[in-house]
Amino acid sequence: MTDNSHKLITIERQITEQQGQFPEATGEFSKLLRDFTLALRIIARDVRRAGLNDILGYTNTTNIHGESVKKLDEFANDIIFRAMDHGGHLCVMASEESDGLIHIPKEYKCGRYVLTFDPLDGSSNIDVNITIGTIFSIYRRLDPQLETPGTIEDVLQPGYKQVCAGYALYGSSTQLVYTTGKGVDVFTFDPTIGEFLLSHAQIKIPQRGKIYSINEGNYKYWDKPLQEYVDYLKTPADDKSRPYSARYIGSAIADVHRTLFYGGIFMYPADSKSPNGKLRLIYELNPLAAIIEEAGGRATNGVDEILKVQPTEIHQRMPVFLGSTDDVLEAEQFLRGEHPSQQ
Ligand code: AHG
Ligand code: MN
Ligand code: MN
Repeated sequence: MTDNSHKLITIERQITEQQGQFPEATGEFSKLLRDFTLALRIIARDVRRAGLNDILGYTNTTNIHGESVKKLDEFANDIIFRAMDHGGHLCVMASEESDGLIHIPKEYKCGRYVLTFDPLDGSSNIDVNITIGTIFSIYRRLDPQLETPGTIEDVLQPGYKQVCAGYALYGSSTQLVYTTGKGVDVFTFDPTIGEFLLSHAQIKIPQRGKIYSINEGNYKYWDKPLQEYVDYLKTPADDKSRPYSARYIGSAIADVHRTLFYGGIFMYPADSKSPNGKLRLIYELNPLAAIIEEAGGRATNGVDEILKVQPTEIHQRMPVFLGSTDDVLEAEQFLRGEHPSQQ
């Protein structure tokens, strides 16, 4: 076999090879990602066992030994911390599940990178065996010469500064989707050998899709232009380009992953109930926007590109419209009141 698509490539091999392309590379970044994939493997294993807690004698809060059982999202948060605190690669972390910054314990060295993450996205879907995931971003610290603890400024960097972004999806298989700014690759976990293997190289999102994804239960809370856009997507067109299909899982990670492969648009807008939308800029939107844009799509908050927004607060929320470029541009046209069908 000479076809490249049949090469067996593990995530570690790919990261090491990509790193070798940078003459100044120290290997630190590869080690950081290796530590991180260990956390993902552990979380994937425990997600697979989630439905067994009850029959194995666990309750919501205590196990058979009377010890408290953590919710899976808090558990995932802990696992990532324990995999990443001592490697010497990070100077600070921030997580959706932790109130403030997560500092590196004093006994360990502070490194040159910053990690931000949503340990389990879609956690309301855990109990019903629906796809959930872990979302993450890695940044360089602002002053790479420093060996002191990282600061809030190191975490509040705009998304275009991510050196790596991605997510692990715990679905019918476990997949790791990531970018270091050289395209988007998908690795699928083989549990029998404990490795992530390259399964989809350099994926591209369709230029236009035929699926929209939004919590339409909130329709009455939306602004008129957004109502008009979604009404338009549902209106049959002579050329059969509409109506679109509706799909909404309620795990952003799963809705965005489907959008990446099938195209279309995923939205979590601002509305009169949630004036800033629901999703978090740092833990969810920046990494998802980096993947979508790197695959040739578009991600905005309706006005500005997500990746160009300067964050002001670690748990900041922001509206989002992301997916196929032509769909997102059309949504923005509607939001500005400039679409021909609105005239
Ligand atoms: P998390 O589980 O990390 O708190 O995130 C849940 C988010 C996101 O995954 C999803 O898109 C959204 O909540 C769904 O919200 P609605 O139920 O309001 O549609
Ligand atoms: Mn989330
Ligand atoms: Mn979460």
